Amino acid sequence: MAVTQSFSALQVMQDGPVIPVIVLHDLAHAVPMARALVAGGVRMLEVTLRTPQALACMEQIARNVPEAVVGAGTVRNPAEAQAAASAGARFAVSPGYTSRLGQACRDLGLPLLPGVATGSEIMKALDDGFFQLKFFPALQAGGPAMLKAWSGPFGEVNFCPTGGVTLQNAHEFLALPNVICVGGSWLVPADALASGDWARITQLASEAASLKN
Ligand code: 3PG
Repeated sequence: MAVTQSFSALQVMQDGPVIPVIVLHDLAHAVPMARALVAGGVRMLEVTLRTPQALACMEQIARNVPEAVVGAGTVRNPAEAQAAASAGARFAVSPGYTSRLGQACRDLGLPLLPGVATGSEIMKALDDGFFQLKFFPALQAGGPAMLKAWSGPFGEVNFCPTGGVTLQNAHEFLALPNVICVGGSWLVPADALASGDWARITQLASEAASLKN
């Protein structure tokens, strides 16, 4: 039996400059899409729980693409965390934060990047021992200026800004000392999935992987 390496939330963030945020509607896309991202140098894959096929897609990737580390995005409650872990997710990302979700992920041994957009939400996550956080929706909620403002009172927090981040503006976030990586959906465009343009996804991954952080 293959030994599955486990990762901390910090290691998930440190693996590369960009975590792709993936929406899959077709199970047949999961494995070739994951292989295309890995070929471009991106292996931490956030498959969002936004489609009925998401859990099955995660299972397929976990089983067939051992070079990838599949995680679940849009995890909003303990039941979704449990379902994601059962499907083979090795990390979870949430758009917001509740203590129930944090505790459930701890109980499951599932590293969690809780989503925050305000100082009070950061304080709640810190109270529960989470120091690696997703800033969501990053551009809409204040962008790089907000992260600079947080670096004073929340200097020990590492952020993964997600939402409105693109290849063009990613460097503005990645240049900040409290940003380890960014998240974004641009690496896996819906039209590339629909047309099976895996080479384009590899190219987008390769450009993203070469961003400096
Ligand atoms: C999301 O959860 O949809 C992510 O924030 C992705 O946002 P983006 O499409 O702006 O990259």
